[in-house]
Amino acid sequence: MVSAIPALYAQGVIAQHRSMPHNRFAHRYRGINRALIRPLIRQRAKLDAFFMKRFRTNSLSTWFLRALRHQHHQRFGPEGNYYEFGIGKGRSMSRFLRALKVFCDAEDLDLYSYSLFLFDSFEGMPSKSSPRDEHPGFSKGVLSFSLEQTRTRMSKQLDLSRGNVHFIKGFFDESLTPELANGLAAHPPSLVTVDVDYYTSTKSVLEWILPFTPTGCLFYFDDIWLFYGHPEMGQVAAINEINQSGIGYLIPYPELGTTVGGRSFVFSRREFELQKARW
Ligand SMILES: C[S@@+](CC[C@H](N)C(=O)[O-])C[C@H]1O[C@@H](n2cnc3c(N)ncnc32)[C@H](O)[C@@H]1O
Repeated sequence: MVSAIPALYAQGVIAQHRSMPHNRFAHRYRGINRALIRPLIRQRAKLDAFFMKRFRTNSLSTWFLRALRHQHHQRFGPEGNYYEFGIGKGRSMSRFLRALKVFCDAEDLDLYSYSLFLFDSFEGMPSKSSPRDEHPGFSKGVLSFSLEQTRTRMSKQLDLSRGNVHFIKGFFDESLTPELANGLAAHPPSLVTVDVDYYTSTKSVLEWILPFTPTGCLFYFDDIWLFYGHPEMGQVAAINEINQSGIGYLIPYPELGTTVGGRSFVFSRREFELQKARW
């Protein structure tokens, strides 16, 4: 059942869902007493509603699906390595996996050849260390989910023993080391989610990852509107500072659409270079 869905919806996700399968089904049986086929129509309508909810136009799953397809159809640019900072209990992760499954199914690719690098303290938020972090909704230790909790959640969608998922536990000021960056340089990020709320955490992530990030890498920042877009607060401040640092540019990329809270950006190195990194 699941493998039939991409064929029905993959294009529709990008445009809009127009004719739904259950309507077409009803049309085929026009001559038949509708009472007889009503249960079947209802069953299909439920299925449609299920997928429309998960892949509605401004959902995060839809954003991921668009991003994956976009990169796959580019002649140049990175592909195949997903990094997420602030995995928490794994809600955004679960949306990525949903999209990855549909994408791999539609493109006939092996899901387990896509690498995932997932970062979190798994002890919740750190202390605020800058006035630019000062949001009243957060304090040290909130949003704490253990690695075990997150693994259990993810293992409902993915076989974690296959070796393509890597958890990196720790506060970023300790876990994001130059040695780790060297070790991961063979897996340059192609798609990055940053859902860490604070300016300081976002800045640590960007300073660490951008030196080995190729031009064309797509970023999803979940907390752009946490401080109502204030240019000196939160994620927006971190992005602005990075754009003045000389390493390259994080450029808003609205072509991929929006989600309710987050925004997409594409990274372009200052010394422009473009290679096809195959996965
Ligand atoms: C809003 S939650 C993430 C929610 C998650 N993406 C989800 O959808 O379930 C923010 C996460 O960022 C993590 N975090 C924030 N700053 C961090 C830092 N400096 N080091 C490590 N983890 C950090 C927190 O532990 C928390 O789990």
